[in-house]
Amino acid sequence: MKAIRVHQYGGLEALKYEDVPVPTPGTDEARVKIEAVGVNFIDIYHRIGRYQGSLPLTLGQEAAGIVDAVGSNVTDVKPGDRVAYASVQGSYAEYAITPTWRLVPISAGVDSQQAAAVMVQGMTAHYLTHSTYPLKAGEAALIHAAGGGTGQLLVQIAKRRGARVIGTVSTEEKARLAREAGADEVIIYTQTDFETEVKRLTNNIGVDVVYDSVGKDTFDKSLNCLRRRGYMVLYGQSSGSVAPVDPQTLNAKGSIFLTRPFLAHYTADRAELLGRVNDLFKWIAAGELKVRVDKTFPLAEVAEAHRYLEGRHSKGKILLIP
Ligand SMILES: NC(=O)c1ccc[n+]([C@@H]2O[C@H](COP(=O)([O-])OP(=O)(O)OC[C@H]3O[C@@H](n4cnc5c(N)ncnc54)[C@H](OP(=O)(O)O)[C@@H]3O)[C@@H](O)[C@H]2O)c1
Repeated sequence: MKAIRVHQYGGLEALKYEDVPVPTPGTDEARVKIEAVGVNFIDIYHRIGRYQGSLPLTLGQEAAGIVDAVGSNVTDVKPGDRVAYASVQGSYAEYAITPTWRLVPISAGVDSQQAAAVMVQGMTAHYLTHSTYPLKAGEAALIHAAGGGTGQLLVQIAKRRGARVIGTVSTEEKARLAREAGADEVIIYTQTDFETEVKRLTNNIGVDVVYDSVGKDTFDKSLNCLRRRGYMVLYGQSSGSVAPVDPQTLNAKGSIFLTRPFLAHYTADRAELLGRVNDLFKWIAAGELKVRVDKTFPLAEVAEAHRYLEGRHSKGKILLIP
């Protein structure tokens, strides 16, 4: 089968499209014939070595497809089942092995591309709004990169919870997408100082929570956008890593809270995983959650997909098709 592997960390040239043996599932595992692979920022971090594992590494942590073989102890899935998963390494391939507890059945009314598209970004938007800082009706949230993949889902789910959403984006086109997702106000932060604008929009009170995936370029000003005892949820670093923070800063900014959450810690068991995915699939099937697949690329063109995401072009989900 074909797979995308990294033998040495590096730029786009590190992505190797190779022939590897079709893997065999262990006793509690299944093999999935992959139909759609989700591309995520974490894959770039694995490619460049910001997050290190053992090499060679098959990239990718998210996919949807059909179970085609199972291990001897497996009773919960069978060949032919439509499934999706996240947080298991090795999805940039024609076939992948996963522990079966990580597989979720894809509901009727949800196609493979939609399922692959929400396993990471959708579950992230779900846990951020329901668990990390459970948004309540009438509260105000600042969502950075609101026209991106996670951003558009986060805006929609925050609106479902009744929050007022202020989004930031870099371009007019992304501003339109953030508004279509439901953002009440959109700031083009490449043209307008978002801290000044958020203070104006909230009568200098600040927002209850900032969901920040941009990191280096937005972190300091985001702290200044919070109300007293507000929540700074730093969940990514698309623009680069944030410098260390002195705890005294949290006091000086109004006894604020700071967290750096991670999807795997919010889908740590089967019940939590299914609870989140089943909400997402239910909303998609009912037409209440719009999943925007921005671009699909053949697996062999993975370098173009990484170039697109790194180049700040993503306006929804990016998928690879084996
Ligand atoms: N902690 C978790 O559990 C978790 C889970 C999923 C994703 N994440 C993180 O969330 C972030 C967003 O992921 P995503 O897959 O949904 O991507 P995305 O939001 O579709 O794309 C990244 C966005 O970040 C913005 N950005 C700002 N500065 C950038 C820069 N210098 N280079 C590239 N992009 C820049 C861009 O929006 P503008 O052009 O509008 O600024 C871009 O569209 C990533 O940092 C990822 O690691 C974290």
